[in-house]
Amino acid sequence: MTYYLCCMEISSIPNPTLPKKERYLQLSQSLQGLLENETDFVSNMANAAALIFHAFEFHWVGFYWVKEHQLVLGPFQGPVACTRIQKGKGVCGTAWENAKSIMVPDVSQFPGHIACSALSQSELVIPIFKNNEVIGVMDIDSAYLNDFDEEDVVGMEKLVQIIETTLI
Ligand code: SME
Repeated sequence: MTYYLCCMEISSIPNPTLPKKERYLQLSQSLQGLLENETDFVSNMANAAALIFHAFEFHWVGFYWVKEHQLVLGPFQGPVACTRIQKGKGVCGTAWENAKSIMVPDVSQFPGHIACSALSQSELVIPIFKNNEVIGVMDIDSAYLNDFDEEDVVGMEKLVQIIETTLI
């Protein structure tokens, strides 16, 4: 699939037959291209969620932002999701509390997992930092068990670093 921004071709979905590392490299370039052309935060996060969602055909990709001591749902792609998550609760609230990425191979084995969709089977949550504080998380859900590995953690953390550079 090819994306156009104001009639200008900016990116393609990485070829699924490429090694994962290569796909993340292409995705990083696409994300950089998307974000550098726009300053509006919500527009950029909506496009980032869409780009990553379609690149790997995940079940759900989106953002939660810290607002008044809770995580509040931001732009996403996928089924409707819970809107507020407390610190330390679920995978997202735990990634926020620990300020660390969490990869969950089987969500049914994660104590306190918040099931927004019965189809979600594995999950990866990456914290988003500003001035050394977690200001949100990127949450990726897969409909397949054990769908994430260390390459995904590294690749998604790089994508989040690109997003962090756009935060003012
Ligand atoms: N499963 C997450 C909640 C968010 S949804 O998956 C979109 C959690 O346990 O924090």
